[in-house]
Amino acid sequence: MRSIFLQLALLVAWAVADDITVYTDAALAAGWENWSWSSDINFEATDLFEGTSSISVNSEAWSALSVKLEGTFPTYQGLRFDIAAHLTITISSSVDGTTSPNILLSDLSNAITSDAFTSLLIDFRNLPGSGAALGNGTWDRITWQAGGNGDVYHIDNIIVVESIIIPPLFLSAEPLAANTLAVTTQGDVDFSTFAVSLNGKSIKVVNTTTYNPPDTPAKSITYLTLASNFVPGTLLIDTGVPNGGNSTFSFTLPAVQYLSFVQQVNFPISPLIYGVNFPTDASYIQNLGVTMSRWGGNAVTAYNPTGQFTNAGNDWFFENRVASPPDADDWVGWVQGAGSQALLTVPALDWVSKDATSYSYPATEYPGQASFDPFLANAGNGFYPNGSSVLPVPNQANVYTPWNTSMAQAWLKGLANKPQLVAIDNEMEIASSTHQDMHPVPFGYDEELARMLNYSIAIKEALPDVKIAAPSTCAWWFYWTSDIGYTDNAAHNNMDFLPWFLQQMAAAEKTAGKRLLDYLDIHYYYAADTSSNNDTAKALRLRQSRSLWDYSYVDESWIGVDPQNHQWNPDTVALIPRFRTLIDIYYPGTKLSISEFSSTLDTDITGGLLTVDMLGIFGQQKLDSATYWVTPDELGPVGLAYWLFRGSGVHFGANSAQVNLASPNYNTQGVYAATENGKLSVVIVNKNPDTPITFALANMPFGSYFVRHFGGEAGVAKWQTTVEINSIDYIVVPAYTAVFMRQN
Ligand SMILES: *[C@@H]1O[C@H](CO)[C@@H](O)[C@H](O)[C@H]1NC(C)=O
Ligand SMILES: *[C@@H]1O[C@H](CO)[C@@H](O)[C@H](O)[C@H]1NC(C)=O
Ligand SMILES: *[C@@H]1O[C@H](CO)[C@@H](O)[C@H](O)[C@H]1NC(C)=O
Ligand SMILES: *[C@@H]1O[C@H](CO)[C@@H](O)[C@H](O)[C@H]1NC(C)=O
Ligand SMILES: *[C@@H]1O[C@H](CO)[C@@H](O)[C@H](O)[C@H]1NC(C)=O
Ligand SMILES: *[C@@H]1O[C@H](CO)[C@@H](O)[C@H](O)[C@H]1NC(C)=O
Ligand SMILES: *[C@@H]1O[C@H](CO)[C@@H](O)[C@H](O)[C@H]1NC(C)=O
Ligand SMILES: *[C@@H]1O[C@H](CO)[C@@H](O)[C@H](O)[C@H]1NC(C)=O
Repeated sequence: MRSIFLQLALLVAWAVADDITVYTDAALAAGWENWSWSSDINFEATDLFEGTSSISVNSEAWSALSVKLEGTFPTYQGLRFDIAAHLTITISSSVDGTTSPNILLSDLSNAITSDAFTSLLIDFRNLPGSGAALGNGTWDRITWQAGGNGDVYHIDNIIVVESIIIPPLFLSAEPLAANTLAVTTQGDVDFSTFAVSLNGKSIKVVNTTTYNPPDTPAKSITYLTLASNFVPGTLLIDTGVPNGGNSTFSFTLPAVQYLSFVQQVNFPISPLIYGVNFPTDASYIQNLGVTMSRWGGNAVTAYNPTGQFTNAGNDWFFENRVASPPDADDWVGWVQGAGSQALLTVPALDWVSKDATSYSYPATEYPGQASFDPFLANAGNGFYPNGSSVLPVPNQANVYTPWNTSMAQAWLKGLANKPQLVAIDNEMEIASSTHQDMHPVPFGYDEELARMLNYSIAIKEALPDVKIAAPSTCAWWFYWTSDIGYTDNAAHNNMDFLPWFLQQMAAAEKTAGKRLLDYLDIHYYYAADTSSNNDTAKALRLRQSRSLWDYSYVDESWIGVDPQNHQWNPDTVALIPRFRTLIDIYYPGTKLSISEFSSTLDTDITGGLLTVDMLGIFGQQKLDSATYWVTPDELGPVGLAYWLFRGSGVHFGANSAQVNLASPNYNTQGVYAATENGKLSVVIVNKNPDTPITFALANMPFGSYFVRHFGGEAGVAKWQTTVEINSIDYIVVPAYTAVFMRQN
């Protein structure tokens, strides 16, 4: 893969008179204010510098070097600086509070070190990671923020660049489908010298159509239709111009894999598997085709609908605040109005936030805590430096107000907008850590079941048509035991937790005369460590989707080594079929939902390709509902996975069709097919970083197909076109690319 860094290095920025200098030497330039926080900053450092000095920064956790202009830089095109650290950058407006997405310096360069400067240029029209544009705004502030461990680093020569002149460049040229080349370019390129040959024979280009996808303004995509179809061998594309590093692009087109679709063998895909948590607005729901929206997560446990307050618990210094979004009723209304169903979480501990300002661990009462909120110095994190919780447990009434089933009923009855699904609290089993101030006692099987039953009865009384999703268990470990541990299993006939829970809910239906559990709801986060994001980790990220369904895939994490449960094949996850079997044994007819899951790295192309694979698997394995945690960036790789399947009204088919691969290789590819009204749709994801894959597609009807794709050699590029398929003997999917094809 050509790195994004190389592409940026190929952008040439001319310093023009209107550039705004932020810092060169000794002090911030005139007009800039120091809005940093919790950081020791020396503007005249001489231990590492260019010119006469640099800025050295020593930031505490989540703290930042932040500078604000007296004025704004509304339409500037970039930011240039020299840095010796990996940080997160945001551009923001102190005028209206707008903030850019987090820009990770690791998305700009893998080569940054702490002992020498790396020169970086951020193009505001093509932000690293998403490729989105910053857009015009009342921008006036730039923030370099450290992570949870703080950071010590140097930065120098900071300039807000008025204009970045983009030299014309062919970024990639890749074979796609039967006879199309997808060419990614920047600037004003010239196709007149472009030549294509296959196995030494020149091929004519019969059609050239260029698009400027609206959200990646620095990249254009041109589709070239070739006069003949691809075949195995050497494809050589000569741009005919020097073109930076690559004046030619060459590919070895491999032998085909045999694949057949059987549209007659099919079953419905639940429409509710294409969900996210907290979609940003109605156009987000429509652009990505979101079908299910969840109001959930750690902060909704303390949601007080009366004052619209909440508390993030252990995620943020146990502080109350105004909920965001504030009004659940209004939220249900607009997500449904945009065409999505709504899953609303109802708090089910004994307390909710009493105001927007209180917090549980003031330094004035509990000195000597491990850390304090950098924005609110008196609010501690509730832990001593040795990692144990501070004592005594605070009085809940300091921060919370009582909550019970009657209050939940009054709230739900009063809603103008009724959700289709209700979840009973969130990850209740770990409340003694996420909400240690509210519920310090570890949860066991019996208390969790009692709360689920009490709330389900109350909720179904208030909203007779609603479906209940529970218990929203956080992870593999807690699927099988409780916070009390294995003595709790022993006290319940040695049954693992979720099988026991299903059995109890089945018994409860007999007593209640109706279902009190409609969806068994779990959260699923991959247990393997891919945090290094090196090539090994990327490949692992992409193949671990096998843990969703494959009994032959020993989990590449602690689960594969020391599984800690009493289930069959305990070292494999095989998540969806496993839970379908448990449901069949203990409570037949219960649906299965995954209300939190993640790609493990939303900003990386591999996170997007993995999400494509997951959405395909959800349909193929008959999952009933799923919502991504948290809100994917609409223009980032994960958002593009939703766009691929469902963008702007063009949907993957409603019935999963049979896919037969002669020699499946799930580690490096995923293939999904669907049918609807007699039309075939297909999604193929190529997980190889640098080699195309090719298929002979038996039973794929000839004719016109709508094609959409993202990924590829130019990073996160995307777009869509129409192709004619007049031979299915040799269909190409480029490296690190997901392709959607739908019969017109
Ligand atoms: C800049 O702000 C930081 C954080 O508030 C502070 O520690 C530092 O002394 C300030 N530096 C100057 C030169 O004002
Ligand atoms: C941003 O501002 C520039 C300069 O004023 C203008 O040319 C451009 O059209 C604006 N873009 C948008 C998206 O409003
Ligand atoms: C070229 O392809 C585009 C996009 O598919 C299509 O709209 C156009 O009609 C084609 N032009 C010719 C001459 O076939
Ligand atoms: C682009 O050039 C580099 C360096 O010469 C080469 O390794 C790479 O394979 C080329 N890319 C393509 C698609 O031909
Ligand atoms: C942790 O530190 C606190 C406060 O100093 C102390 O009371 C407690 O005993 C310590 N816990 C452990 C496990 O060492
Ligand atoms: C909930 O609390 C209110 C106010 O204290 C009380 O009137 C009501 O009976 C309680 N409901 C239940 C089910 O305990
Ligand atoms: C469930 O409801 C029963 C009956 O109202 C009550 O006695 C019990 O304390 C409740 N359990 C929990 C955990 O709230
Ligand atoms: C690459 O990532 C893998 C998986 O996270 C890790 O085990 C390995 O140590 C990493 N290798 C290097 C050289 O960082």
